[in-house]
Amino acid sequence: MRIGTLGAGNMADALATQWARAGHDVCVGARDPGRAARLARRIGGRAGDLREAAEFGTDAVLLALPYAAVTEVVAGLEEPLRGRVLIDCVNPVGPGFALRTAGGPSAAERVAAAAPGARVVKAFNLCHEDVWRLTPPVFSGRPLAVPLCGDDAQALDVVRRLVRDLGCEPLDAGGTARAGLLEATAALLIGLWVGEGADAQAIAPPREFAGER
Ligand SMILES: NC(=O)c1ccc[n+]([C@@H]2O[C@H](COP(=O)([O-])OP(=O)(O)OC[C@H]3O[C@@H](n4cnc5c(N)ncnc54)[C@H](OP(=O)(O)O)[C@@H]3O)[C@@H](O)[C@H]2O)c1
Repeated sequence: MRIGTLGAGNMADALATQWARAGHDVCVGARDPGRAARLARRIGGRAGDLREAAEFGTDAVLLALPYAAVTEVVAGLEEPLRGRVLIDCVNPVGPGFALRTAGGPSAAERVAAAAPGARVVKAFNLCHEDVWRLTPPVFSGRPLAVPLCGDDAQALDVVRRLVRDLGCEPLDAGGTARAGLLEATAALLIGLWVGEGADAQAIAPPREFAGER
């Protein structure tokens, strides 16, 4: 696949490293050409600015920017992002582990509104970058499940393949309207892990105890 990254920080590094290893062609896009070039060199990809990465990513584009920057950046790339599978790993989590989108649209919905031609899939937002660097992320013999939220069947299929390239299992979690739940879950988990030092994994019972609705 041809994959572009918007951003050359921790998440772009962790995920693009894995996808390059899996044989995909990656273009690292960043506003800082030196940072993009350093990551691209390390993973054996190419470097560009944000627009070039969006243009390059004909199969998928990873959105790996801070929440505060996403809508403006994505709106500026509306044209090159038209038709692109846009993988949104953004967590709108602010001080005190608060959800910065509370009471309004989710980050994913804001991204989708800023680039209406893009096919947004929320994914990879629940785990720290160190988890995405594991080869593979398997815990107690069980591959990590990665929930996905999106409305476009073809885009979801692309992201499922990219999830499997990491050694993880994709888990359909609903449409874009439910992406805010993934963002809220991230705020909850980060608050438990970082704020409370809790074993947040322990909060979910096995499936047989999940009950029926
Ligand atoms: N790190 C994690 O473990 C983790 C896990 C799950 C989800 N996430 C989410 O993933 C996203 C990226 O996180 P990260 O840890 O990779 O962040 P990061 O390491 O700080 O990297 C952020 C990237 O965004 C760029 N950037 C910042 N402001 C920009 C702007 N106004 N215009 C263009 N580019 C800009 C930075 O470029 P410069 O170098 O030029 O500033 C850098 O390339 C965030 O939304 C975060 O919530 C992170």
